Order: sequence, then C-alpha cells, then structure tokens
Amino acid sequence: MNATFPASPDLDALVHSARECFAQARASADLENAKAQFLGKAGRVTELMKGLAQLSIDEKKTRGAAINQAKQAIEAALAERRQQLADAQLAQQLQAEALDVTLPGRQRGAGGLHPVSLAWERIEQIFGSMGFDVADGPEIENDWFNFTALGNPPNHPARSMQDTFYVDMSDEQGQPYCLRTHTSTMQIRYATAYAHRHLDALRRGEVGEIRVIAPGRTYRVDNDATHSPMFHQVEGLWLGANVSFKDLKVTYLNFCKAFFETDDLLMRFRPSYFPFTEPSAEIDIQFSNGPLAGKWLEVSGAGMTHPQVLRNMGLDPEKYQGFAFGSGIDRLAMLRYGVADLRQFFEGDIRFLAQFR
Ligand code: DAH
Repeated sequence: MNATFPASPDLDALVHSARECFAQARASADLENAKAQFLGKAGRVTELMKGLAQLSIDEKKTRGAAINQAKQAIEAALAERRQQLADAQLAQQLQAEALDVTLPGRQRGAGGLHPVSLAWERIEQIFGSMGFDVADGPEIENDWFNFTALGNPPNHPARSMQDTFYVDMSDEQGQPYCLRTHTSTMQIRYATAYAHRHLDALRRGEVGEIRVIAPGRTYRVDNDATHSPMFHQVEGLWLGANVSFKDLKVTYLNFCKAFFETDDLLMRFRPSYFPFTEPSAEIDIQFSNGPLAGKWLEVSGAGMTHPQVLRNMGLDPEKYQGFAFGSGIDRLAMLRYGVADLRQFFEGDIRFLAQFR
C-alpha cells in the first residue's frame, strides 16, 4: 500500500481475498463471477464506497483514496488473471492442434512398367531400328490363321504341339474360334493385307518387301515354372526377293546383342520342325559372362517361310522368300532380368514388380 495513506488492514485483506478468488477461477466465466463479487454493482468495493457517506470530509478524502487504490489493485489483479487464463487457453489450443512437422509426408508410390512391358518395348525399339514395322492383331483367332494357313490343317499331328482354349463359336468352315496359340497368325494376316494392298504391283510381277514384328498375348493349356496359360510372343517376318537364311542369322544375332546389351554372346541354330517353315530351327544363345554363362538357352523358333505358306499369303513362292521367327517375350525378359519362375510375372506381387521400376 502507498505509504502516504494510513494502513487499512481491511482494504489489504480485501485485495488479498480478491487475488485468491481470481486465482481460483479456472475459466473466464468463473473469473467474471469473481469480478462481480468485488467490482460489481453490489460488490464489496461498491459497498465500501457507499460507506463513505457517513464520514467527514477529511476522512472521506483519505478513506476514499485508500478504497480507490484497493479498487485499482483488484482491477490489476483481475487483468493479470484474465491474461493468465487467456495464455493458458492459447497454450492448450496450440497443444491440441499441434502438427508433428517431423512426420514424413504421405508418399505416392511411383509407378513403373511391368518387366514384360519393358522387354516388349525394348523389342519394338530394337526391331524398329532395323526397319521392322510393328503390327497388332486379334487374340481370338479363327482356325485358318492360327493353324491351317500355317501348314497345320485339321487332324494334322503338329496341332497337338499347341493345345489351346476354344471359344464357344465357330467360323464359316464350322471350325471353332480359339485363343491364338502363337503370334504366327500375324504372319498370314499381315502378309495377306500387304498382298491385297499391292495386288496390281504383284500382278505386274513387282516384288516388294515385308518386314514386320508382331508382339502380343498368346494362350496354351500349360502351367508350370516356365509355362503360363497366357504368355507373350513376338513374331518376326521378313519377306522379299532375296531374303536369305543369312539375313535371319544376322538379324537375330544383332537383336540379341542389343536386347541383352552384350557382344559376348554365342548363337546356334538347331534343326527343328515347324509346319510353316522349311528348313526350321530352334535358336539357342549362350552368354560368356554373368550368372547364365556357359549354358545354351533356347530363345526362339525360326525358319525359312514354307512355299505353301507364301501361297496362303497371296504371294508367289517363285518371287518371294524370307524368314520368320517366333520368340517368347516372357522368356527373353526372364533371361534379361534373371527371373527363375515365369509365374512371378503374373502374380502381381508389388514387391517383385517394384524391383524393375
Ligand atoms: N509359332 C511357333 C511356336 O509358337 C514359334 C515359331 C517357330 C514361329 C518358327 C516362327 C517360326 O515364326 O518361324 O511354337
């Protein structure tokens, strides 16, 4: 209390009790109630003011000043407590709304191409650079394109090499549609379309050129570590006036060197049988380095297009010759990426697939 005023123990006690009362208020509503008790119209300070009326002029002065000072002290205590409560409330709110800025952000997984798609794209790119067109065709195929036109007439024993799925629907010859067992169908489709487009030139005896690959899905009744009922093949066909077996060797060797990104590669052609090529071969490759070194690995069937197949394409076998090959894209992808079980490609396990991103 200010020393110019005589001590007023009742006023000191009043200020003290106001401070305590304010301190007990836990929320601003409590504090406003407490304020009313001291500073309100019927509050204790107002009561004291009213009491001044009975005092003399001099007493009024000193007592009035003392009461005023007490009132100011109570108001200051009130303001201080208000601030405390506001600070506390703010602190609590900040705490409740706190963000942990050290939490890692939510990541969007980066997508990537499937390893078979990666191999497929490489194949298109490499053959594209060698002047091959890229063709696409139907997966539900009729008997002519899948079998008969390829030297595989009904009841031919070679049909059993390729057991497939049949669709509940027949073509004009009464043969059921099937899911194509190989992309060799595209040899006939593409060459027939070509022959059709160049009919006049063919009649004049001109010889053009067909150079195409046809990658796509194929189907067979097979399921083990190296066979899946759905798999991928890429067909190649190069026909012209002078396309020879040497061209097949050079083309396929260059493709393998580019695909596997190595020159340390041996290649051999093993005699084989396909009804649409004569002679026919299996192509094997062998790496000189790496985990597969020293083993012959089968990568493709191939051969010189059979004269009857050329006729079925609408081309004259006296004028046209060339080669075809059919390789497993999945097989090429397995060799390139070191995958032992083909089924992993088709299980959709993201832990496996993410390795190829
Ligand atoms: N179509 C054959 C198969 O799926 C592979 C094949 C062999 C394709 C020789 C060819 C070829 O073009 O010339 O087993």
